Amino acid sequence: MQQAIAILDSGVGGLTVVKEVMRQMPGESIVYFGDTARAPYGARPPEEVVRFTEEIVQYLTQFKPKMIVIACNTATALAIDRIRDMVDIPVVGVIEPGARAAIRTSKNGFIGVIGTDNTIRSGAYRRALQNLSPDVRVASLACPRLVPLVERGDYRSGLAKQTVEESLAPMLHYPIDCLILGCTHYPFLAEAISETVGPGVALINSAEETAKEIRDILSFRGGLSSPDRLPVHYFYCSGRPSTFRRIAKEWLGRQIRVSPVVWQLTRFADD
Ligand code: DGL
Repeated sequence: MQQAIAILDSGVGGLTVVKEVMRQMPGESIVYFGDTARAPYGARPPEEVVRFTEEIVQYLTQFKPKMIVIACNTATALAIDRIRDMVDIPVVGVIEPGARAAIRTSKNGFIGVIGTDNTIRSGAYRRALQNLSPDVRVASLACPRLVPLVERGDYRSGLAKQTVEESLAPMLHYPIDCLILGCTHYPFLAEAISETVGPGVALINSAEETAKEIRDILSFRGGLSSPDRLPVHYFYCSGRPSTFRRIAKEWLGRQIRVSPVVWQLTRFADD
């Protein structure tokens, strides 16, 4: 197999990054892991998220990927340094690219961030934004009810719309002109989010920005595959493959094969 880009998430959220990689770099092979049996990661103890991320990276290294993409804001916020210590290939997260795009986009310097409890509590976005522009004002909001909707494929319903409206209500008090979708599951809900915050607020989809960063790094290292090359994609998940397959087919617009992965039982002992 041509050396692939390894992409991981707690579940289906990382498919938003996969879709962008496929669009921007059609010749790249992808090996994806969604930890659907243990999602969501958003409210888990941080040390557990670090351990799960290590386990997934360990699993993915058997494919000898050319890069690891942590397509999960929660895992990026809590585990990226640990993963960078663990492997000797580039490790790309989703927070820095999203922060950079927001700074580029905002005109009034007031930026909103929505994400999981862990991502918001970590302060990773606020730090990334303030490192880029110390005067930036940031309104952060945890939206823990959104990921479960997406994980069960319920992102187009009336209930999804209502949950988005209720979750985002506190954000409407701030004069933001741009909102970072600080969780890779949220692009699935982009329409409802955009309708809720209104046309004056630009949505930042970190998936798109992360794919650009992946392309830049691969190109710099001379590792970009030619777009004429026929890629091979592998998808693995720890939960039920049928739900994952249905969501992936709808989101990616193509049929995919998903292989279930059963972790050793001891790994689930404390779940
Ligand atoms: N998609 C993930 C993120 O970007 C994880 C969400 C979760 O598992 O709670 O944070």
